[in-house]
Amino acid sequence: MAGHLSQSELDYPFKLLDYFNGFRVSKVIFSACELGVFDLLLNSQKPLSAEGVAQELSTSVDGMERLLDVLVGVDILDVELVDGKAYYSSTDVANLYLAKGSVKSLHDMIIYQSQTIYPLWNNVVDAVREGKNQNEKSFGISPEEIFQTIYRSEEEMLKFMGLMNSTWVLDGQDIATAFNLAGFRSMVDLGGCSGALARELSKTYPSSSVTVLDLPKVIQTARQHFTEQNDTIMFQEGDFFDGDIPPADLYILARILHDWQEDKCVQLLKKIHTCCQPGGGVLLVEALLFENHRGPVMAQVFSLNMLVQTEGKEHPPSQYSNMLSSAGFHTVQICRTGKSYDAILALK
Ligand SMILES: C[S@@+](CC[C@H](N)C(=O)[O-])C[C@H]1O[C@@H](n2cnc3c(N)ncnc32)[C@H](O)[C@@H]1O
Repeated sequence: MAGHLSQSELDYPFKLLDYFNGFRVSKVIFSACELGVFDLLLNSQKPLSAEGVAQELSTSVDGMERLLDVLVGVDILDVELVDGKAYYSSTDVANLYLAKGSVKSLHDMIIYQSQTIYPLWNNVVDAVREGKNQNEKSFGISPEEIFQTIYRSEEEMLKFMGLMNSTWVLDGQDIATAFNLAGFRSMVDLGGCSGALARELSKTYPSSSVTVLDLPKVIQTARQHFTEQNDTIMFQEGDFFDGDIPPADLYILARILHDWQEDKCVQLLKKIHTCCQPGGGVLLVEALLFENHRGPVMAQVFSLNMLVQTEGKEHPPSQYSNMLSSAGFHTVQICRTGKSYDAILALK
């Protein structure tokens, strides 16, 4: 970042102004998604005028034209002028990631960010002042009960699970292949939610059994809404803090430790160490900070998000290594994927 904000930024702060505008651009993409713009353009056989889009989606023409123009400005849509009139069409990126029906769709991620994360981030100033999450102010629910807040209604649970699910559409393969895990014949994904990462692991290691353990209501919802035909993964209701953890060769903790304070993380890792078969291990999947505080920006922003929404934070590898060693694990290996999420493997 310091490199970018160089001498030329002093002449005119282009980059800073871009950052200031970032929330507006996010909200344009989110709104277009919620209105169904990308699905309409994907399914349309021809480019559409703002009037055409507005009519199909029951919006004002003026508002829709402005929204479409921003999307053209940020290269998410294309436009051509015919007799001075603008006709809009989709791009490959919009069709692949923003339309609802695509196999790589990030639609669920966008809906959660727009409808839940965005209101929470209205309270970042208070989160920083107070050093705690803003669930009470944002949703009127006790700040202690993180997952009760996140799962405060069936609708919110489905939205959260959709968000978790869509991450692994992008990052699942990189995580599954970050290390050769073929030697671990039984894997349990603790807090595995919809099962999306477990499914990637099962596809990559077909000789291993993969079980998702999560809270009872989450498992019931996963079974109802997120299973696939010929699913090879198994689901198990449980509680990794207060219940039994089944024996396995490998435990996966994907985006679990970043939810909790460090003492709880070590407590959970110690429990896993006790249940783990000799020669087994634990795979942590998190967005790893750099040790020198200089990035990656995405992980730094995620860490602030953890402050606003949970009791945890993102960490650099050294902090995870310390937690793993305190719990009795050794041979800690780090794999930075260069994408949103990284992996750490440690052995018993
Ligand atoms: C941030 S999500 C991560 C989900 C998934 N591992 C992923 O990366 O997509 C945390 C998960 O932990 C689960 N969870 C929270 N407390 C739990 C507990 N005490 N026992 C089991 N699962 C729990 C939540 O239901 C949720 O699915």
